[in-house]
Amino acid sequence: MKKKIALMPGDGIGPTLINQTTKVLEAVAEAFEHRFDLCYCDIGASAIQKYGNPLPETTLETCKNSDAAIIGAVGHPDYDNAWSVQRNTPDEGLLKLRKSLDLYLNIRPVITFPLLLQLSPLREKHVEGVDFVIYRELSSGVYYGEKGRTSARTAAFDQCYYSKEEITRVSKRAFETAKNRKKKKLTLVDKANVMETSRLWREVVYDLAIEYPEVELNTKFIDHAVADIILNPKEYDVILAPNLFGDILSDAAGVITGTVRLIPSGSFGDKYALFEPIYSAYPEKMDRADANPIANILSISMMFDYFNMRLEAKTVRNAVTRVLRKGYGTPDLNLEHKVSAAEFGDSIANYILENGNMGFNHFDEGMSTII
Ligand code: IPM
Ligand code: MG
Repeated sequence: MKKKIALMPGDGIGPTLINQTTKVLEAVAEAFEHRFDLCYCDIGASAIQKYGNPLPETTLETCKNSDAAIIGAVGHPDYDNAWSVQRNTPDEGLLKLRKSLDLYLNIRPVITFPLLLQLSPLREKHVEGVDFVIYRELSSGVYYGEKGRTSARTAAFDQCYYSKEEITRVSKRAFETAKNRKKKKLTLVDKANVMETSRLWREVVYDLAIEYPEVELNTKFIDHAVADIILNPKEYDVILAPNLFGDILSDAAGVITGTVRLIPSGSFGDKYALFEPIYSAYPEKMDRADANPIANILSISMMFDYFNMRLEAKTVRNAVTRVLRKGYGTPDLNLEHKVSAAEFGDSIANYILENGNMGFNHFDEGMSTII
């Protein structure tokens, strides 16, 4: 199969992460006889430095002309305090990209690795076997509502807006997934005791629930939900949340897995798909050669699922698990052999080349298919 893929390394650790992603893509292409045409383009601080724009038109065009797009990481400390004076920041580039591609659904699977349970500050028994997925609305809500200051700049506002249609399209996808999962549970996270948009979410979601009698629906307020996913992570199956609440839940989920650097993500609309990490470019240490690429590599496996290349997706997931099982990992994983991102990427790519299309794929090592 032939696919065109837009690759945006971005900032900080992004280029290191994208290099590992590229190795995995090349290994899968070789092992399964596909052709991936990779088109590199700029986003974030690196794009601001080159073009004065965190999302240049050429980047957007390349993404629109590709079958999928991939981001390394976006964000730079030089811009962290620029919010009050200007909006032309790296993060703004990412937000514009999501909006321009109408990526209304962001899927973030939260699955613990049996080999990495010790990374979590929670007890191993507590997090072993956790397998839930966050369905985050990504193209509306308070992120994109009108914002502003009064003329004296002493008061500010951010409008949270949701239409029935925006809620319906993302909620349907969540119900469809819940229907096909083992537990068949859907939890809507909102703040319906305070916010009118949350009341509309409830209305729409309860109406839709009639079409999905097999799905057990419940609701939770965001403040309680953030605590409860940590207290009872195994109770959850599919979590549906408006944009901001999905963002908050994702980082809390990183406490369960031990680090957000294990959580991949795919953003989908009706036409386009973007595979992006759930974190920024690690501003504390911008050029780490030992940055952990697992989230990025697992996002590639989500991309293969999206392409309906199920075996390729499984192969990538299995390769990650097998390399970890041999005791190899970036230093943050605290395994026996501490290796650089490049060495880790090489091991995963080699594993795919050696075992790729050879039949060990009849089993999957406990990492479920999400899409
Ligand atoms: C995320 C990130 C982004 C978001 C930032 C970088 C704009 O935190 O993807 O979770 O808030 O959506
Ligand atoms: Mg976030």
